[in-house]
Amino acid sequence: MSAHSQASPEQERLSGRALWPWRRELLRLGGAPADFDWLLDLAGGVDGPSRHRLRLEPELSVDLRCSLGEIERLWRRHLSEQIPLQYLVGVCPWRDLELLVGPGALIPRQETELLVELALEHARALASGWPRRWADLGSGSGCLSLALALAFPEAQGWAVECSAEALHHTDVNLQRAGVSGRVAQLKGSWWAPLEPVWGQLDLVLSNPPYIPSAEVSQLDPVVRWHEPLLALDGGADGLDAVRFISAGAHQALAPGGLLLLEHHHDQSSAVCSLLNAAGLEAVVAHKDLEGHCRFAQAHRPLIPH
Ligand SMILES: C[S@@+](CC[C@H](N)C(=O)[O-])C[C@H]1O[C@@H](n2cnc3c(N)ncnc32)[C@H](O)[C@@H]1O
Repeated sequence: MSAHSQASPEQERLSGRALWPWRRELLRLGGAPADFDWLLDLAGGVDGPSRHRLRLEPELSVDLRCSLGEIERLWRRHLSEQIPLQYLVGVCPWRDLELLVGPGALIPRQETELLVELALEHARALASGWPRRWADLGSGSGCLSLALALAFPEAQGWAVECSAEALHHTDVNLQRAGVSGRVAQLKGSWWAPLEPVWGQLDLVLSNPPYIPSAEVSQLDPVVRWHEPLLALDGGADGLDAVRFISAGAHQALAPGGLLLLEHHHDQSSAVCSLLNAAGLEAVVAHKDLEGHCRFAQAHRPLIPH
């Protein structure tokens, strides 16, 4: 019998004594302990320090944000249908933000946080007032657009997205943070909707789809069954979108403007070659936290060659 079934399904408090046997029993069904704890935190509101306290002092109780029954239901659905927990709970913490997520928009990944850090590093090295205009190509949940809008409150931003469902999530997250007024949201493909500001963009970030088509079918079911193919599949070699974005960058960036791209772990030299071939300069590869070159930066030359 589960700790949950010993208690009322609507129980709103959880004691240390009830937590551990209940957690053990649900983990026996499958799944990773870290994922279960994530669910307990995001759905139930029981964070790491609270779990630690409940382990040390089993007589203590904490208030739950939802019932044990609801948490158990979400866990079972995650296991049986391989639905990402973020979609089940509807939120995803990312950097210092909490984003609303759902099917149709890629769940923001931790490595993408570094793309923002690279932009911030560049801004710190320049005089204040940079960038005046930025764009996020393929905005998805709106994670990058939101981070940029908060970091550069004086700047005008553009979020470009070809999927109506994903753009809806961008909109929801920008509205919720109260920054939608300074980020224009454009439905369309890569550079095309930005044509009126071509030549004026100081900073462009993109985390485009970059997984080679043949690899998409090998991805974990939790990703391949539920996250949008449009956000994952980068064509035969994974570089379709990077090729297109690189080719248009010279025209769209302001002189000296910076393009920052995320790419697959084994695409660094191909991406850097594409950026050089597109007439950009100062092409630099950057590593992720695991030491893989996962990002590339390049500038439009300040003075035409
Ligand atoms: C890897 S996801 C990144 C989403 C978000 N920026 C992030 O970092 O989590 C790529 C995004 O590009 C969008 N996309 C794909 N093709 C596109 C195109 N031709 N033009 C604009 N956006 C596109 C997808 O819908 C998806 O939202």
